[in-house]
Amino acid sequence: MSLTVNQIRTKFLKYMESKGHVVVPSASLVPENDATTLFTGSGMQPMVPYLLGQPHPLGVRITDSQKSFRSQDIEEVGDNRHTTFFEMLGNWSFGDYFKEEQIRWMWEFLIDELKLDPNNFYITCFAGNESLGVKRDTFSAELWQKLFAQKGIDAKVSDTPESGMKDGEKIFYYNEKKNWWSRSGVPANMPEGEPGGPDSEMFYDFDATGQQKIHETSAWKDVPCHVNCDCGRFLEIGNNVFMQYKKVAGGFEELPQMNVDHGSGLERYAAALRNDPDVFNIDVFDEPKKMIERLSGKVYGESTEVTYAYRVVLDHIRAAVFLIGDGVLPGNKDQMYFVRRLLRRAVRFARNLGVHDNFTREVGASFIQTYKVEYTLLEEKRQVILDELEKEEMKFRKTLENGIKEFEKIADKNISGVDAFNLLQSFGFPIELTEELAKERNITVDRVSFDEEKKKHSEESRTASAGKFKGGLGGDGEMEVKYHTATHLLHEVLRQVLGDHVLQKGSNITSERLRFDFSHGEKMTDEQKKQVEDIVNKVIADDLPVHREEVSYDEARARGAIGVFDAKYGDTVSIYTVGRETGTRGGANLFSLEFCGGPHVEHTGVLGTFKITKEEAVSAGVRRIKAILS
Ligand code: SER
Repeated sequence: MSLTVNQIRTKFLKYMESKGHVVVPSASLVPENDATTLFTGSGMQPMVPYLLGQPHPLGVRITDSQKSFRSQDIEEVGDNRHTTFFEMLGNWSFGDYFKEEQIRWMWEFLIDELKLDPNNFYITCFAGNESLGVKRDTFSAELWQKLFAQKGIDAKVSDTPESGMKDGEKIFYYNEKKNWWSRSGVPANMPEGEPGGPDSEMFYDFDATGQQKIHETSAWKDVPCHVNCDCGRFLEIGNNVFMQYKKVAGGFEELPQMNVDHGSGLERYAAALRNDPDVFNIDVFDEPKKMIERLSGKVYGESTEVTYAYRVVLDHIRAAVFLIGDGVLPGNKDQMYFVRRLLRRAVRFARNLGVHDNFTREVGASFIQTYKVEYTLLEEKRQVILDELEKEEMKFRKTLENGIKEFEKIADKNISGVDAFNLLQSFGFPIELTEELAKERNITVDRVSFDEEKKKHSEESRTASAGKFKGGLGGDGEMEVKYHTATHLLHEVLRQVLGDHVLQKGSNITSERLRFDFSHGEKMTDEQKKQVEDIVNKVIADDLPVHREEVSYDEARARGAIGVFDAKYGDTVSIYTVGRETGTRGGANLFSLEFCGGPHVEHTGVLGTFKITKEEAVSAGVRRIKAILS
C-alpha cells in the first residue's frame, strides 16, 4: 500500500518540524489584502512579505501545506496531471539556511523517508546568465551529484538537455525560462520590487523502464525527450527556489536576506510513490470514483471520454468544496463565479457520464471526510458546503434542461454570437457550455461576435450604474473614507485593549459601515467593547491630524508600523499616521501608524460617533467587528 495523501502531508510537516521549522496552518484560498490575485495559487504567496524582509512572527523557519487553486487551469483539467485545486507542501528559510541544508533535506525526505527510487529521480539547476549577473548554480548541481553518489549512482550533468537525454544523465542545466522562479515568471516579466531567484527542480520518471512508451506515444514523439519536454514521462514534483534577488530598475539587487522557498505538489508525491502518472488515481479520489461509478454505471478508465469526464467532475467538486469552505459561495462575481463555473461543469460532465440526479452533495461529503483531519474548517462548515453544492446543482440542472432545449432549436447550423448571447442572457447558459455542446455537434460558435455582444451589453449596464459607484475602496465616497480612518483607529485600539496578538485579518468598507476581521481567540466582553468605543471616540474628540508619509520599509518597521504590508509598494512604503506628531507608534503624540495606501480624512474630528454594532466569530481564532459612524 502506498502512503495516503494525509500520511505524506503529515510526514513532510513532521520532517520539517524536526529540522526546526514551525508548522503553520494553510492560509485561505482567498488571499487577504492582496488585490493582485483572486486566489492563493502557490505556497509562497502568503509568504511574500517575509521573503522581502518583514520578520515572520513565528521565526525564520516555516513550513506548511498550502491549499492552492489555479483558476487558469480549469480548461486544462482532463489529462492525467492537471488539477485546479492542489496542496503545495512548502518550507521557507527567511534569511536562515540556504542551498546546502535545503538540498540535503529534500534528498533525505524523498529518498530516505518516502523511499522514492533514486533511479527515477532527476534534477534541474540554473545554467547562469551573465546579463542578469547571476552565476551558474554549480553548487546545487555538485551537491545533488554527491547525494546520488551515496546511493551508488554516478549522476552525470548535462548542459544541453533540450537536445535529448543521454544515458546516465541525471542533472540538467536550463536557462531562466525553466530554472528561475518568481510570481511573474522569467526575469524580464518581473515588476520592480518583486522577489525571485534561480531554482533547482525535482522530477520523477514514470517510465524508467521504457515499457510504457510514454514519450513515443505522446504529441512530443518527434522531439527529443528531456525532463522538461512535457510528454508526461517526467513530472516535476517540487521546486527549490533560492530567492535571493529583487528586481530593480536596470537589473537585480540582492535581497537583504538569502531565502529558500520550496514548494512541492503533495498529489504529485502521492502519484510518484504509486509510480502511476495519473494523479486521479491517488487515494483521495477512490471513494468519489466509486460513487460516480455507482451512479453512472461507467468505470473510470473505460474510454478516453469517460476518463476525461470523471477527471473534470472529481477535480471540480473537490475544488468547490474547499472554496466554499473558505467562504466563497457560488455567484456571479469575482471568486464566486469560479465556484459556479466549477459546479456547472461538474454537473454537465457528470451528465455526459449519465448522471442525471443530484450527486454533488454525496461526492462533496466524501471529500470532506477525507480532508477533515487536516482541514477542520471543512467539518465545521460541512452543512453550508453541502447545502451550497446541492442548491447550485439544482439551480443549474433546471438551467441545463431548459437551455439544452433552446440549444437544440438553434443547433442545426453554426451558432451566431447573438444566439449564444441570448442563451446566456435568457437562460443563464454560459458561453463555455454552448461551446462545449457545439463541439460535440461539430458546429461552431461565433465567439468574436458573442464577445462583442457581451461587451455592448455590459457597457450599457455600466453606463446605467455609473454615478452609483466610484472606484477605490468600493467607492471613494466621503463615508468610505471616514470608515477607512475609523478602521485604523479601531485596529490600534483593539491592540491596546486586547493585546498585541491582534492583527488585521481582513477589512471591508461600505458607505454604511466598516467590517474588520482580526486575530483574537475569544468573544469580546461588553466591557471590552465599551472600552474600545470610548477610546476611539476620545481620539475622534481630540481631533487628531492624519498624515501620509513615504518612507523606506526599514524606517516604517523601525517606527512600529502595523497593518498589512503590501508588497506592491516595493522599497518605499506609504504609511499613515494619526497624531499630533509623527515619530514612533506608541509615542506620546502618535496614536496610530499603519502601512496603507489611503485615502483618509485629514482630521479625526470629522468622523462623528463610533459604535460597534456586532462582534462575532469568523473562524477559529478570528473575530469580526462591524461598526458604524453616526
Ligand atoms: N514558489 C515556488 C513554486 O510555487 C516554490 O514554492 O513553485
